[in-house]
Amino acid sequence: MANVAVDAGASGNGITRREFLYYIWGASIALLAAESIGLMVWFLIPRFREGEFGGEFLVSVADVPAENSDPRNFPDGRFWLVNLNTTQPNELMYHAPGDPDVIIGVAAIYKVCTHLGCIYAWTDSNNRFECPCHGSKYRLDGRRIEAPAPRNLDRFKIYALAEDKSTVLAESPDEGDQGTNPWTAFPLPADTVYVSVDTGDRKQGNKQVLLSDFSEQIP
Ligand code: FES
Repeated sequence: MANVAVDAGASGNGITRREFLYYIWGASIALLAAESIGLMVWFLIPRFREGEFGGEFLVSVADVPAENSDPRNFPDGRFWLVNLNTTQPNELMYHAPGDPDVIIGVAAIYKVCTHLGCIYAWTDSNNRFECPCHGSKYRLDGRRIEAPAPRNLDRFKIYALAEDKSTVLAESPDEGDQGTNPWTAFPLPADTVYVSVDTGDRKQGNKQVLLSDFSEQIP
């Protein structure tokens, strides 16, 4: 009898006690689900600090290697920075059929061999990148010279920044990474003060003909 009295009283306000409890219960479940999803997303989306591999590396333009000089090693970012200009004398680049006539630009080349993931190095005496594990070799711009590497070296997306470190003056193009153009040319605008390398945005090298297939081009 008491329950009947309560329900009757509640229904006078347009909602019974039972309905009210159902709403509370439903809202709690919805809140819990939303929290769980939010937490899952928070854990799944990687967050990297600047200067941490997977995040962005800010390089002063003064630290970008000079055109046609040896590549510069950035161990923390796991990349080499190279700067090419084939319109100028260049002893480090070996031209091959199919190369663009002019290759000008900067690139951040991932330090991991595309064969089985060893860390290769620049070999001064041979002017090329050489992998110690199974002998893959790459030209200064990351193009394959010798197998077993299945493709050219990968690259990271880079941005030319103004002095305020946030104004983007230009960015490396995405196209051509898997296409016929081996070099995503990226000349830095004259007013570039910093280069930002996004190690979370890696572009796969393409599968061009090995340079060693052009016998006269073997360095
Ligand atoms: S891992 Fe570099 S050649 Fe095999």
